[in-house]
Amino acid sequence: MEILTASCVTINYGNVTAVDNASFTVNEGDYFCIAGANGSGKSTLLKGIVGLAPIKNGHLHIHFPKEQISYLSQSNKADRDFPATVWEIILSGTQKSGKTLPFYSKEDKLRAEESMVKLGMEKFRNTRIGNLSGGQQQRALLARALCKKPRLMLLDEPFAGLDSAISEELYSLYRELNDQGVTIVMASHDYQAIGKYASRVMLMNNSHVDFVGSIEEWRANLWQN
Ligand SMILES: Nc1ncnc2c1ncn2[C@@H]1O[C@H](COP(=O)(O)OP(=O)(O)OP(=O)(O)O)[C@@H](O)[C@H]1O
Ligand SMILES: [Mg+2]
Repeated sequence: MEILTASCVTINYGNVTAVDNASFTVNEGDYFCIAGANGSGKSTLLKGIVGLAPIKNGHLHIHFPKEQISYLSQSNKADRDFPATVWEIILSGTQKSGKTLPFYSKEDKLRAEESMVKLGMEKFRNTRIGNLSGGQQQRALLARALCKKPRLMLLDEPFAGLDSAISEELYSLYRELNDQGVTIVMASHDYQAIGKYASRVMLMNNSHVDFVGSIEEWRANLWQN
């Protein structure tokens, strides 16, 4: 079942066309990787999906409520001085958009606790987010993202700057979530991991979609390049 349909989507920053005439679909249950060189438009496309970059032309249709999307942006390293603890960050993931004052129900707190434990972050409950390592921060942000029990996760280079052991662990977690039915759309440079985990792949080249297809087609056509 299609859950996201992009038809001839174009996104500009002033005179720069970052995504040019992109058409593709994402199906429920896909592990959909967006590959491509620096500056090819991967992050912009993800921003377009969540409404952070306005779509200039074409249509992008999400076939379910947007509140069920979790988005982890590319540069999400927390500021050392950001005045929030791991618990506060994770709990904030239960907030519905549109609310101004945070109010957390018992159910929100239970859900946040469950996410925190799932990611093994309970020992850092009272630690400031900025005092964690990059890998620990990723875990906390992932726990936050899981609080809303997302149907679709958009992950922008979620392993940048992490060592291979932590990346492997996180890959396994995403695999597990995907096995449980969560659709994953991930921008990545890591062609090894794409070959290992993705079910479908899209290749962006200089703001265009150059290829979109199954992992088998990707391996047959592009894997060695
Ligand atoms: N806020 C912005 N203002 C102006 N131009 C931008 C902005 N963000 C991105 N661009 C330009 O849009 C193009 C696509 O950038 P984008 O960040 O989407 O690429 P990317 O594929 O995610 O690259 P990377 O692999 O380095 O993360 C690039 O030419 C970039 O310079
Ligand atoms: Mg990017």
